[in-house]
Amino acid sequence: MLRVEQVTKRFGGLTAVDHITLNVGDTGITGLIGPNGSGKTTLFHMITGFYTLDRGRIYFQDRCISGRPPHTISRQGMVRTFQHTRVLPFMTAMDNLLSAAPDQAGERLCSVFFRPGRIRREEEAHRERAKEILEFVHLTPLSHQLAGRLSFGQQKLLEIGRVLMARPRMILLDEPTAGINPTLIRHLVNILRGLTARGIRIFLIEHNMPLVAEICEKVFVMDSGRLIFSGLPAEARQDARVIEAYLGREDRAA
Ligand SMILES: Nc1ncnc2c1ncn2[C@@H]1O[C@H](COP(=O)(O)OP(=O)(O)O)[C@@H](O)[C@H]1O
Ligand SMILES: [Mg+2]
Repeated sequence: MLRVEQVTKRFGGLTAVDHITLNVGDTGITGLIGPNGSGKTTLFHMITGFYTLDRGRIYFQDRCISGRPPHTISRQGMVRTFQHTRVLPFMTAMDNLLSAAPDQAGERLCSVFFRPGRIRREEEAHRERAKEILEFVHLTPLSHQLAGRLSFGQQKLLEIGRVLMARPRMILLDEPTAGINPTLIRHLVNILRGLTARGIRIFLIEHNMPLVAEICEKVFVMDSGRLIFSGLPAEARQDARVIEAYLGREDRAA
């Protein structure tokens, strides 16, 4: 479904992503792990069009998407969340979802004048969908709460809700469980499983290894911009290069 071929990204003298080639097939949940600074977020930025590539190509559903802007890529069905959550704090949870609805006819002037009925129907449809999504991410009781007043973990669920408004085929999540409590982590796991049951593919960056082992069918491991492992999570935990990458980092930090 997603193919990354020979992708490289440099920042000055630093090669943040170094000739990465990987394939995210039609499996449910795929993980991307690696020590801090290994290039995971940079790779996600390139896949979703937020960074340009210095080398390589990226294909999604057999179409080349590298070089396309983020909104074009999301319209093709690939959306993402960010390592640092982005919700609109002064809007309610419901309005956060409505504002994330794609292609709002109401914003096109000629529609406002000539097709008010169509706009009303579209708004109704968005509102119905937003309600379903709030239910799905366990936020129905908080529909009218300002997003800025939700807990950090609830904001993360809301952010997932926002990207679902676009009816994606694949979702990239950057550290979805970082900083959220164990109860919400279980909610999140249920949500991710629910998404895969609906045929939506998940590619996630995650530090919580037991969680990766629990939910990912396949995992990629990066270290210093390179891909050092791809395979089953259980195998990754026993792989000498993976162990060395994590322990080496800890030694250096100590
Ligand atoms: N916009 C940027 N400008 C310069 N250096 C960057 C930028 N983004 C990331 N880097 C560097 O690239 C490397 C990889 O970063 P990142 O992709 O955020 O790693 P990870 O998500 O695996 O922790 C790090 O050394 C980081 O400092
Ligand atoms: Mg990161």
